[in-house]
Amino acid sequence: MKDRIPHGLLAVALILSMLAGCADDDQQDREIRLAHVLTDNHPVHHAMVRMAELLDEKTQGQLTLNIRHSAQLGAEKELIEKVQAGQIQMTKVSSNALESVVPEMGIFTLPWLFRDEQHYHGVLADDIGQEILAKLETVGLKGLTYYDAGSRSIYARDPIRGIEDLRGLNIRVQPSPTMIRTMEALGAIPKSIPFGPELTQALSRGQLVTAAENNIPSYQTEEHYRSCPHFFMTEHSRAPDVLIMNLRAWESLNDEQQLALQEAAAASAEYHKHLWAEATRELQDDLRDKGVQFTTDVDIAPFVEAVRPIYEQLPDWRREWVERIWEAQ
Ligand code: GCU
Repeated sequence: MKDRIPHGLLAVALILSMLAGCADDDQQDREIRLAHVLTDNHPVHHAMVRMAELLDEKTQGQLTLNIRHSAQLGAEKELIEKVQAGQIQMTKVSSNALESVVPEMGIFTLPWLFRDEQHYHGVLADDIGQEILAKLETVGLKGLTYYDAGSRSIYARDPIRGIEDLRGLNIRVQPSPTMIRTMEALGAIPKSIPFGPELTQALSRGQLVTAAENNIPSYQTEEHYRSCPHFFMTEHSRAPDVLIMNLRAWESLNDEQQLALQEAAAASAEYHKHLWAEATRELQDDLRDKGVQFTTDVDIAPFVEAVRPIYEQLPDWRREWVERIWEAQ
């Protein structure tokens, strides 16, 4: 039977199946899938939408970004794994979530590491930030840019007046060994819960955890203020968000496409700085109107004292990074 199929027909079938294959490859090349856990009203999401627009313009539609928000494709830990496995091409996660994959990412988590916002921005933009970003390549990831994620503070169901109120407090943290260590040093009991609906529910039930720590935009967009209206401005950590891509997917792009993507990512991070500053200001007013009690005049001296052993016990490789960061202007 097979012998009787005319050669012409076989050739057509072969060409058609090759074309179908090409169409698939093209499709994959053109569409970059980016998943993250933040809601679509979060400033970081808006910045990534801007990146998608810029990329589309720069490549005349050759490369497009398909963005899935709100943890639709999983929590940060899963998203990192999916990007490493090539199931999706990109994600945006907190540097705290990357610490278990690239230990250097945990440097930023260290409590009260940066002098101020300017110092933090300078370090990320300069050699130190770029060297740490490049470490991602050792685990099959390309680091494209940092996004400002401001400072993290503690919020709870009950009022917090000082360090004594942290004793025995069940607080949600990210899966970051450095953050876990920090909360323990402050006397709290850290519990790792994935960011997203599960966390919002856990906080509203108030059984497993009665407190959490995050930046103001995430506190507001996840509606954590509903169950935790006491916001205590410790600003204990400045851990940036990081945009990462599967390294093979990055390497499969041609030079112009890589440049376009790199430029679109950098421009969106710059645009985001403005969005962030505006959002943080406006959201505080909005949250006050909703009944949130902000304690802004926190005396952090006893907190810094409590975490001193973390710095005293730093392994050499970490101490070197910390010293470089402290020396940076
Ligand atoms: C920040 C960060 C998120 C992260 C979250 C968390 O809001 O932007 O990427 O998921 O912290 O606490 O897990």
